[in-house]
Amino acid sequence: MFTTAFAKTNQTQPGGLPLDLFAAIENLKKELNAVILAHYYQEPDIQDIADFIGDSLQLARAAAQTNADVIVFAGVHFMAETAKILNPDKLVLLPDLNAGCSLADSCPPKEFAAFKAAHPDHLVVSYINCSAEIKAMSDIICTSSNAVKIVQQIPKDQPIIFAPDRNLGRYVMEQTGRDLVLWQGSCVVHETFSEKKIVQLKIAHPEAEAIAHPECESSVLRHASYIGSTAALLKYCQTSPSQEFIVATEPGIIHQMQKLAPAKHFIPAPPTTNNCNCNECPFMRLNTLEKLYLAMKNRTPEITMSEDIRVAALRPMQRMLEMSL
Ligand code: 13P
Ligand code: SF4
Repeated sequence: MFTTAFAKTNQTQPGGLPLDLFAAIENLKKELNAVILAHYYQEPDIQDIADFIGDSLQLARAAAQTNADVIVFAGVHFMAETAKILNPDKLVLLPDLNAGCSLADSCPPKEFAAFKAAHPDHLVVSYINCSAEIKAMSDIICTSSNAVKIVQQIPKDQPIIFAPDRNLGRYVMEQTGRDLVLWQGSCVVHETFSEKKIVQLKIAHPEAEAIAHPECESSVLRHASYIGSTAALLKYCQTSPSQEFIVATEPGIIHQMQKLAPAKHFIPAPPTTNNCNCNECPFMRLNTLEKLYLAMKNRTPEITMSEDIRVAALRPMQRMLEMSL
């Protein structure tokens, strides 16, 4: 006799996909000895089926520690690449290979090599939202949750290039009092928030706290009572006595906020353009539950990179993990 889950995974929808994708993915997890790592910006169904949800630093740590044979990365390309840098012998799958990142794309390796050559005495601290090639040209990687801590550990007389996000870089400069040479990259999603609409929301919801990711522009950050990585924002809204929050980051995080603080009210910060979903990351949202299932079933698309780049990118990644214990 079949169990219910087995029976459901054998029923198909038009197009041949299993009727119960959740059960089918659970079965594939066991079959492949796979772990599903998901970022907070993924659609709610993917967050719910994931073995581990986190911000970039937590996901890098989870990738470094997993015993699974297969890592299914429900996030964007640079995150899956990070998992591959740390796990050369594991199969790393990304449900949609086109899930890139505007910030990573704003730092092309050739131009960055010339920028670095123009500042020969500078140490390169790169935000993890960059390609493996940029990581390979960097001395230390950081994420939005440890950037300040990492820059604070570098001797004061050491000049620093910070790449690729100018907004996070400027925030780190303010927090550390250091003068950083900034690569002028940015994220399309975090630069879409409208200062005017956030102010209007604060007037309409006087009890609400505005909280923001440091990738936002300073015009938005100055209205936030708390600034942090996605994981830090999630923790903050649980511990703050406030009952209402205006959330200036990708609204995928609100799924976890609502789960962990069900009595509180979360308002996504609106984009400048009316009637668009520009505050949703178009790259993160390319991954779907269907594509995740197909990636596991077909063992593709797989993340690959040259061993030279991987080894060069591993060193600054390891420095980050050591410096952010
Ligand atoms: P986190 O470091 O908060 O995970 O941010 C990742 C990211 O892509 C923000 O846009
Ligand atoms: Fe990249 Fe921005 Fe999307 Fe984050 S939200 S993955 S920085 S494009």
